[in-house]
Amino acid sequence: MTTVRLLDATLISQIAAGEVVERPASVVKELVENAIDAGATRIEVALREGGKTFLSITDNGHGMGREDLTLAVERHATSKIPDSDLFNIRSLGFRGEALPSIGSVSRLSITSRTKEEDMAWCLTVEGGRKQDPVPVSSVLGTTIEVRDLFYATPVRLKFLKTSATELVHITDILNRLALAHTHIQFILRDDDKVILSHPSCGTDFFQDASQRLNAIVGQDFIINACPILVERENYHLHGYISLPTHNRSNATSQYLFVNGRPVKDKLLSASIRVAYQDFLASNRHPIVTLFLTIPPEEVDINVHPAKSEVRFRDSSFVRGMTISALKNALGQASVRTSTTLADTAIAAFKQPLPQLSLSGKNIPSSSKFQKPSRLNLPSFQNQLGLSEPMAASYIPQPSVIDEEMEHAVHDSPLGIARAQVHDTYIIAEKSDSLVIVDQHAAHERLVYERLKGEMDEHGIKRQVLLLPEVVDHLPKDATHNLLKRADELKELGLIIEGFGESSILVREIPALLSKTDIRQLIQDLADDLKDIDHTSRLKESLNEILSSMACHGSIRAGRHLSSAEMNALLRQMETTPHSSQCNHGRPTYIELKRADIEKLFGRR
Ligand SMILES: Nc1ncnc2c1ncn2[C@@H]1O[C@H](COP(=O)(O)OP(=O)(O)O)[C@@H](O)[C@H]1O
Ligand SMILES: [Mg+2]
Repeated sequence: MTTVRLLDATLISQIAAGEVVERPASVVKELVENAIDAGATRIEVALREGGKTFLSITDNGHGMGREDLTLAVERHATSKIPDSDLFNIRSLGFRGEALPSIGSVSRLSITSRTKEEDMAWCLTVEGGRKQDPVPVSSVLGTTIEVRDLFYATPVRLKFLKTSATELVHITDILNRLALAHTHIQFILRDDDKVILSHPSCGTDFFQDASQRLNAIVGQDFIINACPILVERENYHLHGYISLPTHNRSNATSQYLFVNGRPVKDKLLSASIRVAYQDFLASNRHPIVTLFLTIPPEEVDINVHPAKSEVRFRDSSFVRGMTISALKNALGQASVRTSTTLADTAIAAFKQPLPQLSLSGKNIPSSSKFQKPSRLNLPSFQNQLGLSEPMAASYIPQPSVIDEEMEHAVHDSPLGIARAQVHDTYIIAEKSDSLVIVDQHAAHERLVYERLKGEMDEHGIKRQVLLLPEVVDHLPKDATHNLLKRADELKELGLIIEGFGESSILVREIPALLSKTDIRQLIQDLADDLKDIDHTSRLKESLNEILSSMACHGSIRAGRHLSSAEMNALLRQMETTPHSSQCNHGRPTYIELKRADIEKLFGRR
């Protein structure tokens, strides 16, 4: 027979500790938050073995007197919920759980002094057993020491990772808190080595925080980012988001805050993904630091024991505001190419070149350098039309470029095409710079924007194939996935039918892609579909699908272009939105300033 009994206080705290205190980093988080709530301007964290055997947090906040100290380590004791109103919380803490939880699984000691008293009190808790406070001498503020974390719960102890891993987590959480509280000085030491040191700076994010952003997010972040600053009703969003070309393979460099609290929020992450979806492959992630500040009653922070998740009262408003703010910023920044790219290129040029031997053996002979004779070749209309009809269908037919015209074009954003090298890159000249264009990346972007532009209520314009094409030898699940989506693919310009277990019959394709390799396209689409959640509509993943199509319909690297084709491509890039990066977040061109080139040659 089972008997129901009430748990004793220590056990209750240990159970709560299971949620609040997962690892040394969560202890650091709770204690640093307490120090911030206590008004500290300097917070120092010291660790041994990644915090596993020892960690201490010292702050210069308002401290606690004897009575508060005794109460603070009791469960559900807090000084932070004004008027007992859970929806009017302006502090980081409010659950009154951290200190008792930590005290139940470790050896905890708290030394604290308020400005009203000339001596401090020290209280210890070991495995949940509290001693009476004793007077000690200490400076104003609070020092909390935690030894032998999880000694009282050996199973938990086994889950801890190496000291190095725990240190990574601690550094991360401390950096996140430091980004949100720039006026506070933060120092972290591990085994007496200084791991990070953030001097205090002002509270104006755009004016004062750059040093801290450089230290935490990266030296090249701000110069490759766009500022965000929007306000709608009482909602306020600010921060920086990286240019799409400045991206990472994971989302760990996304720093999100709601009312000064670092959060992991699905709604915000999803909004970021949507805003970037036209610019980034789905496996690449932008770098962002975004601060959402909203009235406390608009957000429920009590949905997660570690307070790292939130729930918004009006989630669609938050989503809409975030997406449009980010999209606007990216739209405005779209002609900017990532500055580090040009810098990297310049740096590469600066590498000492191998001595050229007199026999000319070291002179690269493979690079075909095609120099267009004159721009107003009489036959280029033809060339453009005939060399690859597919290209002609969406590269605008250029008009004859004469001297005068050449002059004007010279000053257009991408300049005038002078040469194609490696059958892959277009070299264009502007009066004050040299532009190198990746022809495939650039064209892919154009086709993609064209396809997107054609999407209306009837879907993308289709072309009937005179002979339907059979794509066979497909994996069974690929045919299945494709046919399940046949109706949606029709809107995207593709009409397919089943043709046995492992074949698909293609009847119509997007008109823009009339010369595409249909087999390759179908195979790639099948791959895309595998990764797309089958409950979501294809239109939501339009980016991936259209990207696949655009990729197949674009001028390949390795295709020889006439000068007219090159110039036509440049002119069209200039009028196409977001043409400075391809749909995978790679740049489509880089620009080398004449001044930088002159520096390379010692002319400046
Ligand atoms: N570093 C500190 N300085 C001053 N007071 C503190 C400090 N840490 C904790 N306290 C006091 O102890 C109380 C309990 O802390 P905690 O268990 O973390 O719960 P919470 O932060 O949710 O209130 C706090 O409400 C606060 O009054
Ligand atoms: Mg707390």
